[in-house]
Amino acid sequence: MAKILFKNAGHTLTMAGAAKKGGRNVKEEDLSRILQPAWVSENGRITWIGSEKDLPAGKYDEEVDLCARDVVPAFVECHTHLAFVGNRSEEFEWRQQGVSYQEIAARGGGIISTVKSTRSSNEEALLWVMQERADRFVEQGVTTLEIKSGYGLDLENEIKSLKMAGKVKGPRIVRTFLGPHSKPPEYKTVDEYFEFVMEKLLPEIAKKKLAERADIFIEKGFFSAEQGERYFKKAKSLGLDVTAHVEQLSNSGGTAVALKNQAVSVDHVVELKPEEITSLAKSESVAVLLPASDFYLKIKYPKARDLIDQGACVALSTDFNPGTSPTQDLSFVGVLARLEMKMSLPEVLCAWTFGAAKALNKQAMLGSLEVGKQCDFVCLDNNWENLFYSVGSRPVANVWKEGRKLFEKKF
Ligand code: NIG
Ligand code: FE
Repeated sequence: MAKILFKNAGHTLTMAGAAKKGGRNVKEEDLSRILQPAWVSENGRITWIGSEKDLPAGKYDEEVDLCARDVVPAFVECHTHLAFVGNRSEEFEWRQQGVSYQEIAARGGGIISTVKSTRSSNEEALLWVMQERADRFVEQGVTTLEIKSGYGLDLENEIKSLKMAGKVKGPRIVRTFLGPHSKPPEYKTVDEYFEFVMEKLLPEIAKKKLAERADIFIEKGFFSAEQGERYFKKAKSLGLDVTAHVEQLSNSGGTAVALKNQAVSVDHVVELKPEEITSLAKSESVAVLLPASDFYLKIKYPKARDLIDQGACVALSTDFNPGTSPTQDLSFVGVLARLEMKMSLPEVLCAWTFGAAKALNKQAMLGSLEVGKQCDFVCLDNNWENLFYSVGSRPVANVWKEGRKLFEKKF
């Protein structure tokens, strides 16, 4: 199989130091910058990385000149609701008039309006929009993309969503079942629907191997912490990793039960109590912060500084979805993290690479450029210091996945 030498890169941030620290207390030196770097990829994995002068003599099938561009590990997008059809621009207007997210949901809008449009779409149309969206992420340097279901909410449409997610080409796809996202209209009560999720939906999805993770929206008016606990136990017994939307709009006790059940990540975490910040920071769960949805909902931002200063491993993500976060812009999320949550640039870089890889339980193969890991990296068209500074900028020149070029920007 192909043995490829990559050389003549500019400053290269391997993030090896950040990975060694488990993504905790990341400082500038943990970006582990190599000057005049080179690395070797065999079968898509890094087998050597260091300074070009130390490169052992060897024969290569290919040698790739990276044209002195700065390099960072490819970005990991660890929380998206990509599997939907339609949009909710009218809701944006309602929220401007003072109607809250919960009120819109109670009126049958919100998630349920996207459920209607997603259910009425055929497989081809759903796949087409998902592929378009995945391409937009790849152009920004994403080679691993999490996709949640959650706009089907019945057997046929949850299967359709996850099946189509599996057909998206380009990035590595990590599929997450989010059946307990909201109660669909055909059920009278949340409890009734939840029992259907537990007895039928979740086991079927696991049996068909359509997802490797299970997610739940724990919030007033949606699902309770007690239901979360039962769901985590069942999902884990079926071999799935668990994650949850917690403490987004109110404190519903989701974080505590998620941590108790070794969730790989807890996402949103806006309304954490001080003692929950401490227990999350000490745990192995990643705190996934989604500031674009906080921005759109005009709510407060999570206490990133407290989490990080107490040692939490943090990830960032767009939370791309048609309601609370209709943006796919990684730079926007990074800028919000720096401006509104006071995260440093090294912390933001770790959050988009190692932190996000750990949130997906893929830190052994992704998130840093080290021997044994996938050869996934991004060449920038400007200095790495200019990342996450200009909203809407497209700083990526080309993107590599498993040693192969996945995207090249047309200048
Ligand atoms: O992460 N909060 C629950 N889920 C999404 C929003 C989904 C929607 O509004 O369609 C979120 O914010
Ligand atoms: Fe979400």
